[in-house]
Amino acid sequence: MGKLILGIFLTVVVLLLAAVGLALLGFLPTRANLPPPQWERHITMSALDNSIDRHAPRGSSPVPASDENLIAGMKIYTMNCALCHGDLDRKPSALEHSLYPPPPNLISDPDTDPEWHIFYIVKNGIRYTGMPAWDKALPESDIWKVTAFLSRIEKLPPAVQEYWKNATSGGPVVSAPSPLNDEHKEH
Ligand code: HEC
Repeated sequence: MGKLILGIFLTVVVLLLAAVGLALLGFLPTRANLPPPQWERHITMSALDNSIDRHAPRGSSPVPASDENLIAGMKIYTMNCALCHGDLDRKPSALEHSLYPPPPNLISDPDTDPEWHIFYIVKNGIRYTGMPAWDKALPESDIWKVTAFLSRIEKLPPAVQEYWKNATSGGPVVSAPSPLNDEHKEH
C-alpha cells in the first residue's frame, strides 16, 4: 500500500516537472488572437461559475435601481467597459477577437446572472483573462451602478431607454433586424 502511494506521488511529481519543463522550453502557446477550443471553454466556464458560487457574498445591491443610477451605470459602462464588451450602438467591440478568452458582448448578449454574481466579477476581475478587477479603479457604488445597468439591459425604464436612444442612433432594442443583411439578400 505504502509503495503504491509513493508510486502515484512520484508519477504526479514527474508529470508536473515535465509540464513545467515543456513550458520553460517554450512549447506553450501564448497567442491571444485565437479562439479557445470548446472543451477548454466548457471546463473554465464551469470552474469560474463554481468558484463564484463558492466565494461571492450573496445579498442585494445597496444602490437603488433608480433612473439616475441606471444612467450613471450606462455612462460608467461606456467609459470603462465598452472597449472590450461592445458599445451602446451594438457594433462589435474593437477587441472582440483580440483577447484569450474573448470578451462577451454584454450589450447584445446580456449577462443573466444575479447582481451579486456580476458585482463580484466586476469588483475582483477574472484571473488569467483580460477582465480587470475594478475595485482599485472605481468606487464600490459605481460598480453597483454599472451592475444594475448590465442586469437590466432588456428591461430598462422608459426614461433610461430614452437617454440611451439619444446617446446613440440605435437605442436599446435588442433584436432589431439588421438593414445590412436585408440589403445583402436583395443582391
Ligand atoms: C480589457 C478588456 C476588458 C475590459 C476593459 C472589461 N472587461 Fe469584462 N471581461 C473581459 C473578458 C476577456 C471577459 C471574459 C472572461 C472569461 O471568459 O472568463 C470579461 C468578463 C466579464 C463579465 C462576465 C461575463 C459572463 O460571461 O458572465 C462581466 C460581467 C464583465 N466582464 C463586466 C465588465 C465591466 C462592467 C467592465 C467595466 C467596468 C468590464 N467588464 C471591463 C474583458 C474586459
